[in-house]
Amino acid sequence: MATNQKFVMVASGKGGVGKTTTTVHLAYLLQGVIVDLDPKQSTQYFSNLKSPVIGLQDTLPEGMNVIVDLPPSAELVQKYAQHYAAAMTHVIIPVQPTAEDYALARNLHGIFSVFPRVKVGILLNFLGNDRDSKIAPSLIKDTFKWDLIGQIGYKPAVFRSVRAAGISIDSVDCYMPTCLWVNS
Ligand SMILES: Nc1ncnc2c1ncn2[C@@H]1O[C@H](COP(=O)(O)OP(=O)(O)OP(=O)(O)O)[C@@H](O)[C@H]1O
Ligand SMILES: [Mg+2]
Repeated sequence: MATNQKFVMVASGKGGVGKTTTTVHLAYLLQGVIVDLDPKQSTQYFSNLKSPVIGLQDTLPEGMNVIVDLPPSAELVQKYAQHYAAAMTHVIIPVQPTAEDYALARNLHGIFSVFPRVKVGILLNFLGNDRDSKIAPSLIKDTFKWDLIGQIGYKPAVFRSVRAAGISIDSVDCYMPTCLWVNS
């Protein structure tokens, strides 16, 4: 694998936290290929997807960045992490600001801790104006000591239109900090 090539796994222990949304935006920003490992094949529901989508059996294209969309299961995350152990460079864990998501993120940090070369970052998603959202960044950085790589507000209209019409400037802006983290 080329030294500057990125291989990003987007992982979470539960559904509906923004894994596929994150995957399609990063693939767009990094001009990468998507590996869709979710049996639901949700990437196909995003309109005007410009990124190529491949599966587990396909050969990874030479020299391209790769972004992997995973199913919502810690067991399968573990299995695929082992499968791609040699290639993996980054893991992004989207979390909502809830105790359940922090517990799942701790579990995933444990799974990826056996791959010390791999950078693991938390992407806070669905942030609102409530107390849990406000304290979330400091909980992640100062209490849990995890790498916080981006913060995305609850923007139903923006992300509804992404699914219907394709990636927009507004939605890309949300993912720029995460892209910079992967590229740094
Ligand atoms: N910040 C956000 N604000 C509002 N809606 C969002 C946000 N992020 C994602 N969504 C919406 O939430 C839904 C779930 O997102 P997505 O499909 O990316 O999650 P997922 O983790 O891949 O789910 P699954 O585990 O079912 O594959 C989608 O309808 C998406 O458009
Ligand atoms: Mg998904």
